[in-house]
Amino acid sequence: EQIEKGGYEHFMLKEIFEQPKSIHDTLRGRLLVDEGIIKMAGIWDHLERINQAQKITIIACGTSWHAGLIGEYLIEEFARIPVEVEYASEFRYRNPIITEKDIVIAISQSGETADTMAAIKMAKEKGAFIYGICNVVDSSIARVTDAGSYTHAGPEIGVASTKAFTAQLTILSLIALKLGKHNGNLSNQEFMRLISELDAIPKRVEEVLESTHEITKEIAKNFVNAQNFLYLGRGYNFPAALEGALKLKEISYIHAEGYPAAEMKHGPIALIDENMPIVIIAPKQGHYDKIVSNVQEIKARKGKVIAVVNKGDTQVASMADYVIEFPETSECFSPIVASVPLQLLAYYIAVMRGANVDQPRNLAKSVTVE
Ligand code: G6P
Repeated sequence: EQIEKGGYEHFMLKEIFEQPKSIHDTLRGRLLVDEGIIKMAGIWDHLERINQAQKITIIACGTSWHAGLIGEYLIEEFARIPVEVEYASEFRYRNPIITEKDIVIAISQSGETADTMAAIKMAKEKGAFIYGICNVVDSSIARVTDAGSYTHAGPEIGVASTKAFTAQLTILSLIALKLGKHNGNLSNQEFMRLISELDAIPKRVEEVLESTHEITKEIAKNFVNAQNFLYLGRGYNFPAALEGALKLKEISYIHAEGYPAAEMKHGPIALIDENMPIVIIAPKQGHYDKIVSNVQEIKARKGKVIAVVNKGDTQVASMADYVIEFPETSECFSPIVASVPLQLLAYYIAVMRGANVDQPRNLAKSVTVE
């Protein structure tokens, strides 16, 4: 097992550090920047059908559901197709409106999650076209879908998903850009700009690992005894806040909630005092001014702000108690980069609390029962 961990203390840390490679592997052979094309075997034969869809419904559970939420932002922005994101477990037990004009995208790392599988079967019976995004090759979900793309993140051993999540975001970015280019919603110039930026994401992730590894460890020391955490973000980084909170609760057993920053005033603000740590994701392009006022409101109530900002940020950084910097990207790719220090922060807090990060209590890597 020590050999498999490749010198890292835990599989989770190893997998966090594998992300530049796993994202690169997921892009390899698909993103051909010099030729200006995205080549995805899974989607190629079905582009017309997908682009003519009345709506796309994304179904998933857990971390994969968070990836789905970001997928909604991506597909609606670039392909202009209406998207809904549903927990597979809710979808399957109501009577959702799904017809043969619909596309269902099922996202699953393991490809074995029982609720996701059952939701796919139901959507299939209603005639929808099912596209799968799985990590495990030849898994049950990969076999039952009509078409799909594998994330090439490699085996993920840590129960808390890390590299599979960023690989899912990578695939969803490719799909959204491919659809948008094909249906004409995305200009050639904008498409070219975005694909070269996507191509550089493995490098950005490498940079963020290097620049935030020590600082997240330092920050973690201050929160070993925290009982609650709030994670806030807007736009593309709202789901990243949900995922950051999920990572922390899964492995450290600290209660954590993710919220859209603007919703703070409708509830969570009542919880803010000097004992409440608040992680706030605030990249330059993501409604930055609004985030600035959120931070002011938090500081007025003495909350402890851990700001996750772009390199060189001064405004939010000057108000925050702790600052984590990440390289600037277009807003649509920022969750891929910003999620990495959040994984590290959760990891170090959990390790310092003596928790079993690779196998947290009561959780399973793949949930094959209801
Ligand atoms: C479990 C795992 C999570 C995962 C979720 C969905 O709860 O612990 O990490 O996100 O299942 O799994 P899937 O394999 O379908 O992505």
